[in-house]
Amino acid sequence: MFLGVELNIARWLGHAAVYIELSKTKLIIDPYLSRNPLCPVKPEDLGDVDAILVTHSHEDHIGDAVEISVRTHAPIVGTYDVVKGLEEKNVVRTIGMNIGGSTRIGNLDVIIVPAIHTGNASGFIIKGENFSIYHAGDTFLFSDMKLLAELYKPDLAFLPIGGYYTMGLAEAAKAALFIKPRIVVPIHYNTFKEIQQDPYKFVDYVHKEDPFIKVLTPEPGERINLDQLL
Ligand code: NI
Ligand code: MN
Repeated sequence: MFLGVELNIARWLGHAAVYIELSKTKLIIDPYLSRNPLCPVKPEDLGDVDAILVTHSHEDHIGDAVEISVRTHAPIVGTYDVVKGLEEKNVVRTIGMNIGGSTRIGNLDVIIVPAIHTGNASGFIIKGENFSIYHAGDTFLFSDMKLLAELYKPDLAFLPIGGYYTMGLAEAAKAALFIKPRIVVPIHYNTFKEIQQDPYKFVDYVHKEDPFIKVLTPEPGERINLDQLL
């Protein structure tokens, strides 16, 4: 199902898992796949990836990262505290940076940005030649999202909306206003009973803040054609 003609695509794979093919580079973020019944793909369905990005070490984010890395020999990228020790689990290479750090993966710049959560949490900015993506990880709303907007001008933002472990609908809508991407995709909802949420209510909340931000509510696994969004 990953054979396609578009050059640049994204797929939300349920929870916070996002697969991206951008500028001929393939990334999987927060691959909580095999233990999520709502995820439509198995880790091996991903094929080869150039890197595995992990926003923090909670189980619902690190997920199948080690297994995918061992199979593909792709590095695991995250904060130092997230990736340390993974080499002992046969991960060939880790890229342990910290907030503000960046690395080049294929044709992309991957930048670690803050998130407000427990432990070692972060978000990611992924910058291709003509397209910039923000994956917020698990976080509450914070006003420095305006700085992320100014610095990295994300075209597409993946924002948690589930509440309980992260911000909920109203705060995530305010985050969309701060980040001003052209497209927002809600994530981190409906996986567990504590985070049941109606994504269409999120659409209403965002449009109350800014009617020009487009909100996509894909099914897990659905292809988002980034070339059509440019
Ligand atoms: Ni978490
Ligand atoms: Mn989480």
